[in-house]
Amino acid sequence: MSDTLSNTLTAPLTDKPVGTLTLLGLESSCDDTAAAIVRHSPGDPPVILSSVVAGQTELHAAYGGVVPEIAARAHTEKLDICVEQALERAGLTLKDLDGISVTAGPGLIGGVLAGVMCAKGLSAATGLPFVGVNHLAGHALTPRLTDQLPFPYLMLLVSGGHCQFLIVHGFDDFKRLGGTIDDAPGEAFDKSARLLGLPQPGGPAVEAAAEQGDKKRFRLPRPLLDRPGCDMSFSGLKTALLRTRDKVIAENGGLTRTDRNDLCAGFQAAVCDVLAEKSRRALAQYMELNPPRPTIAVAGGVAANTPIRAALETVAAEFGADFLAPPLALCTDNAAMIAWVGIEHFRAGHRDDQTLSARPRWPLDNSSPAMLGSGKKGAKA
Ligand code: KG4
Ligand code: ZN
Repeated sequence: MSDTLSNTLTAPLTDKPVGTLTLLGLESSCDDTAAAIVRHSPGDPPVILSSVVAGQTELHAAYGGVVPEIAARAHTEKLDICVEQALERAGLTLKDLDGISVTAGPGLIGGVLAGVMCAKGLSAATGLPFVGVNHLAGHALTPRLTDQLPFPYLMLLVSGGHCQFLIVHGFDDFKRLGGTIDDAPGEAFDKSARLLGLPQPGGPAVEAAAEQGDKKRFRLPRPLLDRPGCDMSFSGLKTALLRTRDKVIAENGGLTRTDRNDLCAGFQAAVCDVLAEKSRRALAQYMELNPPRPTIAVAGGVAANTPIRAALETVAAEFGADFLAPPLALCTDNAAMIAWVGIEHFRAGHRDDQTLSARPRWPLDNSSPAMLGSGKKGAKA
């Protein structure tokens, strides 16, 4: 299998002060199998002792998207290997752990089940307590893992499977201001890349092509900007790109490299403008709370896009807010974020037992209307 295993941000072990928690995190909700060990002592920054991610890009490459059954099988095969590697790289054994944190949703159900069963099995065999946590909370709480960011803060989750604005009031207290009503931006980047014959994942390919292109040549729509609020839509944008592509082909008998670069630039500029304007609206709502240190944080693979990052940074500056983007390895799916959410839950005394269920859908904010649809890259909760 040609997957990739990487170890990021390791740190040496120290003596354990009182109250120290060392948790194993497990992540398998989409197409990355991951295990990580995070240690935290009250008053100190958390330390990522190891973080192992086994991607599945090659396994799904021929199908143009993540195939849930293939993903689930690969998770089942890889989880124990990832756990072993995470322990080895941290220089620990299962006996050194205080507990396990596992993604219990939302996501592709077969994968989530694989992780939950792994956590239950490890717990049954070792007696370690475990907790099932929300994958989106993992992304949303990452700025606390990386920068000890105090509550509240504004979060934009923007990846292949997610796109939403959240005010993070507490580790289990989220206010959803809005999100995509159809595709996530990463999904739109991936589909657009496919329409233009660019490789997957589409985001980096489209960004590279856009760099050479003229963003003004093709004016693609900015969906839902005419409507108030923070909801977004990206599937129409991809359709507009398809129509524009076909028009160019019909008129010129084909697509030149310049045409493709200009289409990518036009598409990326549209996504940028939508995310920037909706961030402005989300920031306006968040600033009404008079946060002492206003911050907008971003997570998810699309946060790797330089023009999008720059646009969000500019919007943050307009509001006098800080902009925080965790290192990319912690913006994309990983298990360190899951271990961290588990630590926050363990400190509050939360534990699960063998009745824990895997949940395909699990909105972070139950008071906001649920989002519909489930994309190729997982549930949109
Ligand atoms: O967070 P992530 O690794 O996985 C989930 O979707 O959960 O995000 C992957 C997504 C893919 O759709 C990929 O095309 C997009 O992030 N992406 C980018 C860039 N790098 C990755 N999108 C735009 N520009 C990029 N540079
Ligand atoms: Zn994710």
